Amino acid sequence: MKRIMLVFGTRPEAIKMCPLVLEFKSRPDEFDTVVCVTGQHREMLDQVLRVFGVKPDHDLRVMKPGQTLFDITCDVLSGLRKIVEYEEPDCVLVHGDTTTSFAAALAAFYLQIPVGHVEAGLRTRNLYSPWPEEFNRQAVDVVSHWYFAPTETSRQNLLDEAKPDGRIFVTGNTGIDALRTTVQDDYRHPELDWASDSRLILITAHRRENLGEPMHRMFRAIRRVMEERPDTKAIYPIHMNPQVREAAHEELDGFDRLRIIDPLEVVDFHNFMARSHLILTDSGGIQEEAPSLGKPVLVMRDTTERPEGVQAGTLRLVGTEEDAIYREFSRLLDDPAEYESMSHASNPYGDGYASDRIANILASKLD
Ligand code: UD1
Ligand code: UDP
Repeated sequence: MKRIMLVFGTRPEAIKMCPLVLEFKSRPDEFDTVVCVTGQHREMLDQVLRVFGVKPDHDLRVMKPGQTLFDITCDVLSGLRKIVEYEEPDCVLVHGDTTTSFAAALAAFYLQIPVGHVEAGLRTRNLYSPWPEEFNRQAVDVVSHWYFAPTETSRQNLLDEAKPDGRIFVTGNTGIDALRTTVQDDYRHPELDWASDSRLILITAHRRENLGEPMHRMFRAIRRVMEERPDTKAIYPIHMNPQVREAAHEELDGFDRLRIIDPLEVVDFHNFMARSHLILTDSGGIQEEAPSLGKPVLVMRDTTERPEGVQAGTLRLVGTEEDAIYREFSRLLDDPAEYESMSHASNPYGDGYASDRIANILASKLD
């Protein structure tokens, strides 16, 4: 019996780690599963835990308003020390590129427990874009023992850094696992009923490097384009960061074809994506989900670590300048050929069985 400890703390990590938790728990003869959440996010994390029915064994409860990278790093690192020492896992699994992932991997490394990195090998090679995520993911890969790379491209990134081939496994992305069950043909929601007479634009935004002026520019561009096109309606499930909320309300209030709503549960969000005409976002996870659903995404960032979605034709990087977003958003709404070319479904991030593969690999490698 092998003891696996999974550590995560934010919404996207939870969405991609809960399928893995359920996979390990479905194999009690092989794995003893310990779940530790850091609580870097609170409400947005709890939403996901509720949907997947995952009850953590430990909760560091680190979130505080206006938390800095120093707060999260220090609180997670010192909080995890006691828990990892107490649980004595054979392997600690972390996910992706958040400060929770970085500090948790470092804690396990200091205690000489092998780290498995789920979603390893994504790179922009620019430490400030996205910030601090590019540092986090590179740092986690420095201390990791097992690398679960979602794609061949991410595997190649790891090989380019001389990570050992025998410890890199291409598994697909666990985020796609949930999509197999969440999107339903008969799904209904009052907000979708409101938008059903129009082309639905789905919006999210939260990146730290976009807080402040870039975010204001993004919102101004979106509003300008939509004001000129009366057949569009937008739904914006807004992140709980007060700085995001302030910018959004300043730029978007008083425009009745755009509704700002609370964060959606993941099942709802996937169905909103499936019904949308197009998506505007700076999110990472949404760039992975959209190709499976064949939904065009304008990525309001200068770089992406998800080039597979760009190659598949679903994603277009539009930066954060107001005029560039205005131009690209207008073009996608007005040019049917352009829209058509971006709306084909493809599966660059896997077939939805990544969790099963990761559990099989650990079962054999930890033996
Ligand atoms: C974090 C991650 C980012 C990830 C994002 C997903 C880091 C440095 N950043 O950024 O990589 O893309 O999560 O959403 O790890 N808040 C709440 N309730 C919540 C969640 C957040 O009130 O459930 C508010 C708090 O005031 C908090 C602020 O949002 O201080 C920012 O949260 P934080 O986790 O520091 O940064 P994110 O931008 O969410
Ligand atoms: N998501 C959600 N509810 C929302 C918005 C997004 O469940 O209101 C999901 C989305 O489907 C994706 C994940 O949250 O799986 C992306 O998280 P986020 O954008 O917060 O972080 P990132 O992926 O950029 O790290």
